[in-house]
Amino acid sequence: MIAIAADHGGYKIKEAVKRFLDSEKIVYRDFGTFNEDSVDYPPIAAKVAHCVADGSAEKGILCCGTGIGMSIAANKVKGIRAAVCTNSYCAEITRRHNNSNILCLGGRVISEEEAVEFTRLFLNTEFDGGRHQRRIDEISAIERGDL
Ligand code: RB5
Repeated sequence: MIAIAADHGGYKIKEAVKRFLDSEKIVYRDFGTFNEDSVDYPPIAAKVAHCVADGSAEKGILCCGTGIGMSIAANKVKGIRAAVCTNSYCAEITRRHNNSNILCLGGRVISEEEAVEFTRLFLNTEFDGGRHQRRIDEISAIERGDL
């Protein structure tokens, strides 16, 4: 299951990504928001981040105006590696190198087509492991206060 959510700035690209997920028969849970009325993004990011961190969602997708606020908020949750992606290279490499578990997208930065393309890459690219696992372990050490 993929956990997906947006604030008002990311609502339209969330809906575009959902249409893609539907077309691919990928199961998701939509944590809102459900229209373009202004809402605060941190509580929305927290819902998806906790869902990914506790394993009830395999990965998450968070959309706001830039993707940045959602990523800052989501990365406060232990075990979350949320990446803002503004091009295809980053959407692929953040999976291969960072083993990112949440994709953050900016509705005021990228098109609906780009949002779908980055989602496709993010969901279909595996972690490379190897030397990159050591670096993920070092990030976990920061979370524990050991670095
Ligand atoms: C909302 O206006 C905007 O600040 C939010 O969507 C996001 O871009 C924050 O990073």
